[in-house]
This record gives sequence, structure tokens and C-alpha cells, in this order.
Amino acid sequence: MISQLAASGTARKIFAHCLDTINGGGLFVIGHVVQPKVKTTPLVPDQPHYNVNMKAIEVGGAILELPTDLFDTGDKKGTIIDSGTTLSYLPEVAYKAIMNAIFSKYPDLKFYNNQGFLCFEHSGSVDDGFPEVVFHFENSLLLNVYPHDYLFENRDNIYCVGWQNGGLQSKDGRDMFLLGDLVLSNKLVLYDLENQVIGWTDYNCSSSIKIRDGKTGAVFIVDSHNLYSAGKRLQLGGSILLLLLTLLCVF
Ligand SMILES: *[C@@H]1O[C@H](CO)[C@@H](O)[C@H](O)[C@H]1NC(C)=O
Repeated sequence: MISQLAASGTARKIFAHCLDTINGGGLFVIGHVVQPKVKTTPLVPDQPHYNVNMKAIEVGGAILELPTDLFDTGDKKGTIIDSGTTLSYLPEVAYKAIMNAIFSKYPDLKFYNNQGFLCFEHSGSVDDGFPEVVFHFENSLLLNVYPHDYLFENRDNIYCVGWQNGGLQSKDGRDMFLLGDLVLSNKLVLYDLENQVIGWTDYNCSSSIKIRDGKTGAVFIVDSHNLYSAGKRLQLGGSILLLLLTLLCVF
């Protein structure tokens, strides 16, 4: 759709999303985002997906010691930003190192398996008990992932881990980072295909952003929308509505 709009001269090849997992709803816009300011990292050229260069992983303020070739890019290596993936898949060595670092303070924590997820009991806010995970990218772009992002509450006081061991899934020797909505939510994520960069910033997806009309230069405020009642009706009908987005197209 973006390519067709761009080909017809209607819109520039820039779009952004903000997926709100706190209140539901969020934003989707096509056009130049003026506010918030978003820091970016270059896209790896000529890839079928949105590939970027990861440089390091930090947990609780400490950089993890990992094999350097883990961050190579290539056919079966590298990092893909994919809003179409719900969770996030890490190469086995990175998965193990991150899990160790997150849970090292709780050696006695009892995990159990719930439909393939590792779950445990915890009372109180997970943000107080567990560390932040930060992915570092080329051009010093950071991706902050908070405990409430990577630990989801399954029942009262039962939390499950969202990180997935990609080593268990890959059948073809792929050893990639596949970063999905688990880490992309509650951020404004900007895809600037004109400049071949992608970036993000922590953001309240229930608030508004400012975008500029490419032709007139006028700046518009776009509010988030949360079609709560519509979402509820669909859920009662048996389907899960994950995202309700506002679509705004700048002419
Ligand atoms: C996010 O923005 C909405 C709308 O302006 C506001 O009601 C809400 O309090 C904000 N949330 C936070 C955590 O600041």
C-alpha cells in the first residue's frame, strides 16, 4: 500500500506505528513524523525484511559477554524487526545469556511449563523485581525492553516469559534475532524507507503525535484511537482483536 501511494505521488515512503499494550489501541500513520523526535539506525540494504545491525545486549546495566559473530549479518544471521511477529525469537546463545542475567537474582524461582511458556509465581510489580533489557544498534540506537514488556501476566500473580529460544524453532540453521511486538509495543516505531533507516522511541501510544503534510508543510496532530466497545464485541464473538489502529494518510 505504501509503495502504491508513493508511486502515485500521494505519500512519501515513511510510516510509523505505536502499539499500545497498556490501554489497547494505538496509532498508525503514513507521512513525516515531526514529534516525537525519533533516533534511527540504518536498514541493511537489499534484504527482504527490515534488517538492522545489532551491536550488543545489556541486562540490568551490564553488557552481556557474547560471541562477536553472533551479531554478524548475512543470509542466516542478523536482526529482523517484524511487527507481524507477536513475540521475539533469539539465537540460543543469546536466549540463554539473557535468561541467566534476568533470573540470576532468583536462583530458587520455580518455573513450570504452561502451553510451551515458562511461567512462575511473583507478587508485586515485575518492574520492581526484574531488570531492563536493552538492545544496542548501529548509530547508538537503543531499544529498551521493560519487565512488563517481556513478562506477561497469565493469571493473578502468575507471569510467563515472552522471550523465545529461536534455536528450538529453526530447522534450516538460521541463527537470527526476530524482534516482534513483544519489544516494539509502547514505542513509536518509524520506518523511513526514503532514507533507508528505522527507529523508535519510548512513547505513550494513548497520546498523540504530530505529522507534516508533504505538500503544504502544514503540521497536524493525530490522536490515538481506542475502539474499546468494538474490540469487546469482537472478543465476545470468539476472535481476539489484537490491534485497533488509526489510519491517517497525508495527501
Ligand atoms: C498517556 O496519554 C493519555 C492521553 O493523553 C493519558 O490519559 C495517560 O495518562 C497517559 N499515560 C501515561 C502513563 O502518562
